[in-house]
Amino acid sequence: MKLLEERILKDGRAVNEDILRVDTFINHQVDPELMSKCAKDFASHFRGKGITKVVTIESSGISPALLTACDMGIPLVILKKQPSKVLNDNLYQTMVTSFTKGTNYELTLSKDVIGENDHVLIIDDFLANGEAVTAAVRLLRMAHATVAGVGVLIEKAFQPGREKLTDAGFEVYALARIGSMSRDRIEFI
Ligand code: G4P
Repeated sequence: MKLLEERILKDGRAVNEDILRVDTFINHQVDPELMSKCAKDFASHFRGKGITKVVTIESSGISPALLTACDMGIPLVILKKQPSKVLNDNLYQTMVTSFTKGTNYELTLSKDVIGENDHVLIIDDFLANGEAVTAAVRLLRMAHATVAGVGVLIEKAFQPGREKLTDAGFEVYALARIGSMSRDRIEFI
């Protein structure tokens, strides 16, 4: 998506060859007009696939995911991060390790909000190592739901996230695909 690529070039900041800061328009301050256009792109790409719910992982995925759900006229489910296992029969949980942030958490889904009749679109801000989305897929499988595809704002194509997901049979739709970057240069695929 040209608009997102242009905004990354204008306001994104590559901290090094691996990490892109997007704090002024996606992650910390959010540009609602840009997010709304990104959401329209996701919605038109995935429309007509029988999707019943949009699912995201807290917290930075929430703004594009909410606007996508709004555009598609379906609910949004936010997978929560808990610091440790919660003993509760009504929850599914799975451990996630974030390589970028060096943290572990239990991704959590209530049995009340996703079930076997759901066909889900996963939306997130970044696709890096694909650990978060893979964990989301594990939870959705525990709930016997199916996955229609994965939409991300920014894919760091030099990391293995896409390969992991496509090898598992999922369609990945990224609005901006970064092939490489350094402090003074960002290149898109
Ligand atoms: P994954 O998301 O593909 O599994 O990869 P990884 O475990 O490496 O990334 C974990 C967290 O780091 C995610 O945020 C992800 O959005 C974020 N992240 C990955 N690469 C970048 C980057 O280049 N720039 C920025 N700004 N973030 C990146 P999270 O832990 O889910 O937290 P949140 O920001 O959604 O709250």
